[in-house]
Amino acid sequence: MKRRVTKAIFPVAGLGTRFLPATKSIPKEIMTLVDRPLIQYAIDEARAAGIKEFIFVTSRGKGALEDYFDHAPELEASLRKKGKDDLLNILKSTNMESGAIAYIRQHRALGLGHAVWCARRLIANEPFAVILPDDVIAAEKPCLQQMVEAYQETGGCMVAAMEVPPQAASAYGVLDIKEDMGSMVSIKGMVEKPEPGTAPSNLAVIGRYILTPKVLQNLNRIRGGAGGEIQLTDAIAEEIRNERDVFGFRFRGERFDCGSKAGFLQATVAFGLARDELREEFSQYLREMVILPDAAQ
Ligand code: UTP
Repeated sequence: MKRRVTKAIFPVAGLGTRFLPATKSIPKEIMTLVDRPLIQYAIDEARAAGIKEFIFVTSRGKGALEDYFDHAPELEASLRKKGKDDLLNILKSTNMESGAIAYIRQHRALGLGHAVWCARRLIANEPFAVILPDDVIAAEKPCLQQMVEAYQETGGCMVAAMEVPPQAASAYGVLDIKEDMGSMVSIKGMVEKPEPGTAPSNLAVIGRYILTPKVLQNLNRIRGGAGGEIQLTDAIAEEIRNERDVFGFRFRGERFDCGSKAGFLQATVAFGLARDELREEFSQYLREMVILPDAAQ
């Protein structure tokens, strides 16, 4: 029997430089898609996958993130008094049970691998998930839930994977495939940000992982990888070298890179159009935006 995955790490200690000046005072993860901050999408996905303990790796200036999960008694009382039950319910979905959420500090932004390593004492000896909140995934069944279900069959380590055009591969960790079994691939290697033209496949890793505690031990030993940062990819690749199973999982869904401006704007359009109360007005506006300038030419 495979162990259940009940802990998730949310590394949110990055500098978010691509969104300066906004990220000078707002954590990237608090930026909103329609009316919900990125972190709320990540938390909802984790809950759907059965996660019970939420570990945030934070840094200076991320106070708004911690506040976001607190109860807001005055606001709740005022909504209750006005009979605004629908808004109250929305508010309640942001509350976390006492003790379910932990914050660990990453004192310097030394990379994603280092951020995950900072949470090692809270993980101890269990498999765990890692969710990068700036990868937002629209899916009928939430991505991490798909992965946890697949993990019951495979064990080992698992990374979410998606096909990318060859020219985009050097922006990702890329899988070297041993065997392609459809939604699952077994992996014989992983390369972080390969030089253009050298990527071993077009299957790229995106921000969802299920990892064994061995990866934390590997991180203990790793110093600087690509770009001088401590890379999570390197610690996972070491598992392959140690002849332990690592799988790529082709999830069903659409991933938006909300860490980039173009990706964030695309997600805003997609999530806006997905909302019943906005669809008609918003799609009309988009049609006019696209058709009128074309017609004017
Ligand atoms: P990114 O590569 O997107 O970096 O990190 P970033 O700092 O957030 O943003 P830019 O590139 O400067 O605009 C991917 C994920 O890893 C976390 C980030 O918070 C993000 O969720 N991370 C990265 C850390 O927690 N610590 C780090 O040292 C680096």
